[in-house]
Amino acid sequence: MKIAVINGPNLNMLGVRKKEIYGTESLQAINREIVERFPKTEFVFFQSNHEGALIDYIQTTDADGVVLNAGAYTHYSIAIRDAIESRHPLRVVEVHLSDVNNREDFRKVSVIRDVCVATYAGYGKESYMKGIAYLLEGKE
Ligand code: DQA
Repeated sequence: MKIAVINGPNLNMLGVRKKEIYGTESLQAINREIVERFPKTEFVFFQSNHEGALIDYIQTTDADGVVLNAGAYTHYSIAIRDAIESRHPLRVVEVHLSDVNNREDFRKVSVIRDVCVATYAGYGKESYMKGIAYLLEGKE
C-alpha cells in the first residue's frame, strides 16, 4: 500500500508559524515520524504553496490513498475539490492539525469534505496518523 501525504500552503512553515495553534514541530519532523510509525507502508510526501501544483499532484499520483491537509484551500478551492472528485474512487482523507470547527467561521467551511472518505481535525500531528490508520484499516 502506497500513501501520499500531501500538504498545502503554509504547512512548510510548521514549527515557525503560530506555534500555539500548530505546534512546534516542523513538517519534516512530522513526515519522519509518519515513516517511523508505519514502517510497513510506503509513503510519498508532497508540499506546495500553489493550488495548481497540488491539483497536478492529486491528478497524477499513483498512490493507493491520500492524506491531504489542503490548508486554507480547504475552505474555498473548488478546483482542488474537483481534482479529488476526478480521481474517484481514490480514497482521500482530509486532515487538519487544528480544530477547524472551533476557530473562525470561515474555517468551519470545507469544500472538500464530502468528496473525502474521512476527516480528522484538531489532533495535531495525530490527525495525520489517524488518517493513515483509516486508509490502512478502514478505521482509526
Ligand atoms: C489547517 C487549518 C486551515 O484553516 C489553515 O488555513 C491551515 C492549516 C490545519 O492544519 O489546521 O493552513 O489546515
